[in-house]
Amino acid sequence: MTQQLIIFDTTLRDGEQSLQASLSTKKKLKIAFALERLGIDIIEVGFPVSSPGDFSSTCTIARNIKNSKICGLARCVYRDIDVAAEAMKSAESFRIHIFLGTSYLHVASKLRKTFNEIIEMAVCSIKRARKYTDDVEFSCEDAGRTNLDNLCRIVEIAINAGATTINIPDTVGYTIPSQFQSIIFSLYKKVPNIDKAIISVHCHNDLGMAVANSISAIQAGARQIEGTINGIGERAGNTALEEVIMAIKVRKDIFQLYTNIKYKEIFRTSKIISEICNMPIPSNKAIVGSNAFSHSSGIHQDGVLKNRKNYEIIVPETIGLKPITLNLTSRSGRAAVKHYMSEMGYKENVDYNLNDLYSTFLKFADKKGQVFDYDLEILAFFNSEIDSFEYFKLKDFNVKSNLDGISCLLIKLMCGSQLRTEMETTKKGLMYTIHKVLNKITSINIIIKNFHILVEENNLSTVVKVNVEVRYNNRSFYGVGTSLDIIESSIRAIIYVLNSIWKIQQVNIKLKQHL
Ligand code: KIV
Ligand code: ZN
Repeated sequence: MTQQLIIFDTTLRDGEQSLQASLSTKKKLKIAFALERLGIDIIEVGFPVSSPGDFSSTCTIARNIKNSKICGLARCVYRDIDVAAEAMKSAESFRIHIFLGTSYLHVASKLRKTFNEIIEMAVCSIKRARKYTDDVEFSCEDAGRTNLDNLCRIVEIAINAGATTINIPDTVGYTIPSQFQSIIFSLYKKVPNIDKAIISVHCHNDLGMAVANSISAIQAGARQIEGTINGIGERAGNTALEEVIMAIKVRKDIFQLYTNIKYKEIFRTSKIISEICNMPIPSNKAIVGSNAFSHSSGIHQDGVLKNRKNYEIIVPETIGLKPITLNLTSRSGRAAVKHYMSEMGYKENVDYNLNDLYSTFLKFADKKGQVFDYDLEILAFFNSEIDSFEYFKLKDFNVKSNLDGISCLLIKLMCGSQLRTEMETTKKGLMYTIHKVLNKITSINIIIKNFHILVEENNLSTVVKVNVEVRYNNRSFYGVGTSLDIIESSIRAIIYVLNSIWKIQQVNIKLKQHL
């Protein structure tokens, strides 16, 4: 029979601790709603005694979250426990999570106590928390470096005192999977009342082993995993929950466990958290990285188009992504070019010749690097004569902006052979104003989706590279602008996109003429 693996998310507590600035209640609530939609069993929302802000965000989240259990952190201090209970009192159900250092280092040099005093503190605190709720978690902080006999002793006593979940954190990410697994096995073997509590693990990623350690603990019997979405957290972060969740699903032949997670929400949740926390996701990050499901080499692209299972162990739609992403670069083969053309509704030999298009594509890809579906469309109908052609060319610009957010911008733009000049003054910041002036000149109405600035310094100058992603007619277009000036780079990046859109408009005109 399959058992449940409880998913405990601490993005709003351990994750938030690691951010440059703490999150507003509004942002925390947005994350909490995303985690609830994802199907997280327990959301650790904060450390209520730590600041008035944490207290009030815990109260707000407790009032609003209905389908996940809310949890608040407390030290083994009565006031912490009382404040945590007060902050969560309006929740449907809540857990108090108490932690106390148990390793020799923490006991002697941080807490300056004896181990017997530690045990006394744990017992009194667990009993205090049980007055407010029958769901109490006790964490043996730095368990990964705690003497095993001491760990077994405190776990047994904590369960007798009323703890219903015992958490074994590898607080400093020091253990390796076989060692961490043997700690969990030992607890099951040596603690007589272990079956009265759920064993949880909470691993940090200092040696890059948080997920591997969590998985090894599951195999030894742990039934709650703590972590964060995208793996954010103190120092090198916590266990990336999305990785554990998908490992359990993909390898159910090994684990025979289930979770309450709604897999289709994984990607959206990860994106929301990355944006709100201002923590970009590396493109090669497992499960949620932008490259995690895209295929680059010609052999892989051909293989995946014949049978996705050749190179995909997870169907991207499972986590809420669109099916098959093939990177169009000079390493791509004919199969990828044909795939994109057919996705756009074009038939080989009827609308285009694959060999001709492929050889133009290769030359273009060598020059440009990454190619997009609309580039293929342009190449198929205009061949290489159009690739370097720029209908819109920046002639000049003039800008004034001030601290009130007022910006006044004039742009002179060549549109074919005609010079057009427009000016705008807005109170909405410079990006908006650039967008507005270019829209006035070109009448192309785009929506800016992403905007990235990269500054490259060398000993002679500072070059600013701006990358933009825009939506136009339900399609994504990408542009880049480079110069020594950030405003010029921004204007150029958008003009780059407008030129691609103009070319697509020419393709459409040509297609209509042939109808
Ligand atoms: O890493 C840790 O030990 C913690 C505890 C509070 C569980 O975050
Ligand atoms: Zn932690």
